[in-house]
Amino acid sequence: MKSIGVFTSGGDAPGMNACIRSVVRTGLYLGLDVYGIKYGYNGMIDGDIYKMKSYSVSNIVQRGGTILKSARSKDFMTKEGRAKAYEQLKKRGIEGLVAIGGDGTFTGANIFYEEYGIPIVGAPGTIDNDLYGSDYTIGFDTAVNTALDAIDKIRDTANSHDRVFFIEVMGRHSGYIAIQSGIGGGAELVMVPETSTTIGDVIQTLKEGRDNQKTSSIVVVAEGGEQGDALEVAAKVAKELPDLDIRVSTLGHIQRGGSPTSYDRILSSRLGMAAVEGLVNGEKNVMVGVVNDKIAYTSFKLAISKAKPINPELMRLVDILSI
Ligand code: F6P
Repeated sequence: MKSIGVFTSGGDAPGMNACIRSVVRTGLYLGLDVYGIKYGYNGMIDGDIYKMKSYSVSNIVQRGGTILKSARSKDFMTKEGRAKAYEQLKKRGIEGLVAIGGDGTFTGANIFYEEYGIPIVGAPGTIDNDLYGSDYTIGFDTAVNTALDAIDKIRDTANSHDRVFFIEVMGRHSGYIAIQSGIGGGAELVMVPETSTTIGDVIQTLKEGRDNQKTSSIVVVAEGGEQGDALEVAAKVAKELPDLDIRVSTLGHIQRGGSPTSYDRILSSRLGMAAVEGLVNGEKNVMVGVVNDKIAYTSFKLAISKAKPINPELMRLVDILSI
């Protein structure tokens, strides 16, 4: 293999730049030509592709976002779109790809590999931490710390006004950000899509807190839960406990930005290096991850389809620590 391409796709995540840097520099170190593909699969289709040098990735290890930009491509979902993308790669002699993204990115990569046989190694880049085959994904740690910082600040004002706050965090169908930021932020309750929490459970927790002389409470609500978003949960609770002073805060896209934590920079750098080394050593159609601190390759199919359950011990911890 003489020439590889790298791109970021789907929702951006802090650490993607550190991963791009690692891919580019590892590729150059191994004597490969490395091409940056902008705007994910859209740029592949449109030929928005340029040759990268070592200096192309200078001063980005600490930056959030992605210098290659990102997109969720509708065109790549079509046969015609993928055919155009393949032609663009062929024209430039690109023989392998590193795809940095989440489940949507790897779904596309898997189809592309099956149709054209071009080797692709994925690096898990999503704040959601929802990919099987890596204990942590690029951006998750930073997102948790951002959420935690926000929860700490909300706790100050909740405490001053004796209020109950429902704080919504991202994660799509995954409760990882919620459980970790909830434990770190001392939440009274964490609602995640993976387990069932009824409105009755929420009410009971809040009542118990009041009986234990708690004057304020924090409930972390993962988006994608069975009871709806934080506003809906808060409305249902307010109906049953009208004397509570309730507020809702949806943290939103701040969780996707910011300078990556040291953990994310190192994870991203490791994954970038292992993705290129994997390609050179014949890996294809796989995601590279870190499992028990060791590099592991998992087929795209498994990475996107197999559930990565939240450790039940963490759920128990919330219960115990919230008395
Ligand atoms: O997958 C990352 C993520 O931030 C999810 O947590 C969230 O549900 C979604 O992307 C938001 O997507 P968009 O940026 O397209 O609104």
